[in-house]
Order: sequence, then C-alpha cells, then structure tokens
Amino acid sequence: MNVLLGVGGGIAAYKSAELARALMERGLRVQVVLTDAAQRFITPLTFAALTGRKVITNLFATASSEETLSSAIEHISVAQDNDVMVVAPATADLLARLAYGHADDFLTTTYLAFTGPVVLAPAMNSNMWAHPATQENLNILRKRGHVIVEPEDGLLACGMTGPGRLAETNQIADVVASLGLTSSPVKASKDLDGETVLITAGPTQEPLDPVRFISNRSSGKMGYALAEAAGERGARVVLISGPVHLPAPPGVTLIRVHTAIEMRNAVFEHLAEATIIVKSAAVADYHLSRVPQHKVKKTATRMSLELDPTPDILAELGQKKGDRLLIGFAAETENLTEGARSKLKSKNCDMVVANLVGQDGTGFESDENEAVLVLSTGETIPLQRAPKREMADRIFDQVMKLRLALHAAQ
Ligand code: CTP
Repeated sequence: MNVLLGVGGGIAAYKSAELARALMERGLRVQVVLTDAAQRFITPLTFAALTGRKVITNLFATASSEETLSSAIEHISVAQDNDVMVVAPATADLLARLAYGHADDFLTTTYLAFTGPVVLAPAMNSNMWAHPATQENLNILRKRGHVIVEPEDGLLACGMTGPGRLAETNQIADVVASLGLTSSPVKASKDLDGETVLITAGPTQEPLDPVRFISNRSSGKMGYALAEAAGERGARVVLISGPVHLPAPPGVTLIRVHTAIEMRNAVFEHLAEATIIVKSAAVADYHLSRVPQHKVKKTATRMSLELDPTPDILAELGQKKGDRLLIGFAAETENLTEGARSKLKSKNCDMVVANLVGQDGTGFESDENEAVLVLSTGETIPLQRAPKREMADRIFDQVMKLRLALHAAQ
C-alpha cells in the first residue's frame, strides 16, 4: 500500500521522520511531501534518505521547461498513486487551508485531487488547538470523513502544558495501516447502498420521580459514529438515541427518546423497514415501573428502591429479527470474549461488539475505542484501539462480510 505523508511546518516536523520509518516498518511505501514551512524545520534530505525516494517540495519547478511541465501535473499522479494520505504535523494553518479547499502549494493541491482516506495528526500550541477557529475547521474535516488523530496532553515546545503535542508516531502509523486495510474499492462504491440501518445509541434515563433518574454511563459517540459511517457508505439510517450532547449526523433520521420503554417502542415501530440493526445503546436494565408524580422528599432514614427489569430490547429483536442482521454490544469489565459469546447466543445476534470498559482512554466518553468482534460464524476478530469513527467503518466492513458469508451458506 502507498502512503502520501504530508509534513506541515511545526516543531513536531522532526517527529514525521520517525513516522515515515514507522509506516515503512508496517510494510507501507511512503511518498513524502514537505510544505515550504516544513522545510524550515526539517530538510528533504532526511526523508529522502529514510524512504529512498525523491521528496516533493513545491508545485512549480523552475529548472527547465520539461521539469515544469511534469511537476505541473505531478500532484494529480501523486494523488492517484497513493492509497492513504496522512498529514503530520497538521498545523492550525494547514487545517484551515484543507478545510476551505485552498490549493496554493503541492500538499493542498494534491489533497483536493486525492479521493482516498485522509488521516490528520494535528500538533500546535494548546491555545491554538482550543481556539474556536481551529475546532470549527476540525469539525468540517471530521464531517468530510477524515480521521483526526487527536494530539496528546503534555509539555509543549512553547513551554505551555496542555493538549497540542503530536500523537505517538506508532499510534498514527497504526491508524494509517488499518485504514489502508479497510479502504477497499467496495467501501468507495457505497457498499451499504440499498440497506436501511437502524441504530440505537446513548444511555436511557429511567425516572425515579419528576426530578431524579437512574442512567448508564454512555456518551453516544460510538452509536453516532456508526450512524455517520453507515450514511456515508450509502445506507438509509434511522438513529434512535437516548439523551446525549451530540448533533445529528447529516442525512440521518434521528428519533430522540429517554426511557428503555420509549426506545423499545421506537425500535419496533421502525423494525419493518430495517435490514441491519445495530444496538449500541447502553439501555438501563432496571426502572421504577410506577414513577411517583411528585418529588420524593428527603428524610434522615435509609431508603431503598424496588426496581423492575426493563424490556431487553436486543433479546426481543433476536426473536423477531427474521433475516435481518442483528449486531449487539457487550460492555464487560472482565472475561470479554466469553461474556460476548454468551450474549451472542442468548440474544440470537449475528455479531456482538465487545468492549472492555473501565479502562483509561477507551470506552465511555472517549473518542477512541478498542473492541473484539464475536461473530455467529465462530470467528473472533480483535479491533485495535482507533478513533470511534474508524472503528465504526471496521465494524461495517465485518457486517458486510458476514452478510456475504450468510448468503453463501443459504
Ligand atoms: N440491551 C437491550 N435492552 C436492555 C439491556 C441491554 O437492548 N434492557 C442491549 C444493549 O443495547 C447491548 C446489549 O443488550 O447491545 C448488551 O448490553 P449489556 O449491558 O452489555 O448486557 P446486558 O444484557 O444488560 O447484561 P449484563 O448487564 O448482565 O452484562
């Protein structure tokens, strides 16, 4: 697989040399493009020596008319010859130019001509990172489907401490390598075209009285990433979401609910039209079946709650799914694969996405996740830690493989 490594002009540019090496260690061919600003921090020679290839530095060569002609169209061939584009460090200026489609140097021009997956690894001062202008540009780039490998917290070159340090080069290289695996022509050709994907996301809230509720930890990010991915791959998407602080992904039909019972009713209202169901919601297992009409007054004595089980939506779907593909989630704190396999069987799922929860950096509120996919075919597929949007694509890659396998078995 061929990777285009674009290097922006920041202090972290020296780490891109490590990144070039890490990409090559993963068996990838690396073509480096340096912006003018990058060349103030690191020389083309470093990358040429590491990659054994010519390093591209500018849009218009000046040496001879022949060179000028070949370099004038080179950005098109570079765009066509590479499978994944990664920009590291992506400076605030570069993010702005990419977001707004500027084409004033080789890297930005190639970006516009490039149709494959794009990975951006920002690095900058933490105030620049937090600035609304930068965050809005990042949102534009995320909506475009690009993978953002978020910077780390730490001591920055400017002396400040905070977010802005380029992510670990091995982490960036892993994301690029995994994207290459999933960026099959099938995905580019909208492999979910014709499917209706019903997704549940977020927690449910079960009222105890008019001012209190019990709920589960869940940000909804994984479910929303799944909805976005399914939509981009051509599916019609119905997203049934518990209370979360996330905007509706573009083109998705969003139905907001609060309780497990409301979620169950919404799911069965839309079951007939669904061909794939993904149950990523963290549904509360217990509720008060009769909620007091008035606020329960505080007393000095211990109180206990008598809770009843909520309907198990996934288990009911397992009984009524017909030939639809049913994907459940399992949040476990131990015995991940065994727990997931027993849920797969007991709830009659085709696949269970199992997350080990209670670790740092993945799960609940995090932008990243790591999981094991347990399939009804008997396969167990580990998914390395990756941004949730990327994880969503890997899950749908397996869903579509499963669909083909189940068809073939019929
Ligand atoms: N689920 C559901 N309805 C419920 C509870 C869970 O549809 N009332 C679904 C979740 O959306 C998820 C799957 O079941 O897809 C597994 O959820 P999880 O909380 O891991 O498991 P539980 O079945 O609740 O079992 P336990 O809490 O004992 O692990």
